[in-house]
Amino acid sequence: MVRHATPTGPGRLDVDSLRADFPILQRRVHGHPLVYLDNAATTQKPQAVIDALVDYYSTTNANIHRGLHTLAEEATAAYEDVRRRTAAFINAGSPREVIFTRNTTESLNLLAYSLGARLGPGDEIVLSDMEHHSNLVPWQLAARRHGARLRFLSVDDDGRLDLDEARALIGPRTRIVSVVQMSNVLGTINPVAALVEMAHAAGALMIVDGAQSVPHMPVDVQTLGADFLAFSAHKMLGPTGVGVLWGRKDLLDDMDPFLGGGEMISLVQREESTWAALPNKFEAGTPNIADVIAFGPALDYLTRVGMDAVRAHEVETIAYALDRLNATDGLTVYGPPDPEERGGVAAFNYLDIHAHDLSTILDGEGVAIRAGHHCAQPLMRRLAVPATARASFYLYNRPDEVDAMIDALGTAAGLFGHAPPTGTGVGAGAGGRGARV
Ligand code: ALA
Repeated sequence: MVRHATPTGPGRLDVDSLRADFPILQRRVHGHPLVYLDNAATTQKPQAVIDALVDYYSTTNANIHRGLHTLAEEATAAYEDVRRRTAAFINAGSPREVIFTRNTTESLNLLAYSLGARLGPGDEIVLSDMEHHSNLVPWQLAARRHGARLRFLSVDDDGRLDLDEARALIGPRTRIVSVVQMSNVLGTINPVAALVEMAHAAGALMIVDGAQSVPHMPVDVQTLGADFLAFSAHKMLGPTGVGVLWGRKDLLDDMDPFLGGGEMISLVQREESTWAALPNKFEAGTPNIADVIAFGPALDYLTRVGMDAVRAHEVETIAYALDRLNATDGLTVYGPPDPEERGGVAAFNYLDIHAHDLSTILDGEGVAIRAGHHCAQPLMRRLAVPATARASFYLYNRPDEVDAMIDALGTAAGLFGHAPPTGTGVGAGAGGRGARV
């Protein structure tokens, strides 16, 4: 594959220099340079994040909030400093509004458990048909426990939610609206502001699943207007095992804890306990100290690059990918056609080749994509497919990697006995190899 310099300038990332920060991007897979297009599943880590992990264990390792010795104090300070940087990244009013969990799934389970306890028969929870299972199954459990009812916003043929339907669905019985900001399959960026307005007008709480949005576009909780936002460090250059739950302080103060144990209490007696103040009330047990601390350099990295620049790069990348995919005979791409309406995610099916076979063949060419139901089975049913292939991009992806994927799709077509379709092949795309995003 031809490597070429990506231009710099206003709104453009110097992708070649960024790539040098990610050691894994140097490796080869099955004899080919790695083309990593599975960023919606997890992103690669810059050297600074890897170094922070090694440095923490080499120099500072201790439990936090407990010890009075030097290591414990340094570890506590480093952990709490990352809470402050996380709050600043999303413009939270206070670091106390930032709870560290294991992942977005745990953040959403916390909400479904603690807010779910306030639900009763007849109360309604409004979700959408494009939710990841992590923003569906916890609400199914809560609804079953408390006799509440789930309602669903449907997805139209272009992968969008219908606001008129939302207006009709969100009403006096609605207690909670919980919707993904950017779909992990369709890439759709949902009109969260309009949904927040409807939820609040109905007296309901608004929860945003930001697992795919916070890593890829500027998200400011003050302008978002929602009550809660959940996201994961590992999808934004950080380590696995760290999730974030942001919530409005008055609401978090009012909620019961999700997990009980050490650190989350104020006073424990034999029969009852009182809770610690925020954020400790929601962080029972020894947290993932090392990975939270190593999330700090990931936040710094994204801040330095600039989330506006990340978003601009992804709009250009997805525009180029959509051009090339749509020009490939026998290929169906799902989601809104306009790159401005979506994130850097392209789910597709190709000819009669199962998505799992596509993924395996592409892997043989060094191209890593995801295939399957993407933890969104109701959405697969809406699309009337059992599975899709999915390419998902990040700040270090280049147009020649899109070309490598299209070339590999041509290889897959050949292996399944199809003539190489129009639109695949080297240089066949809008810009061909070396096109700029
Ligand atoms: N939620 C992640 C994905 O969409 C794992 O791949």
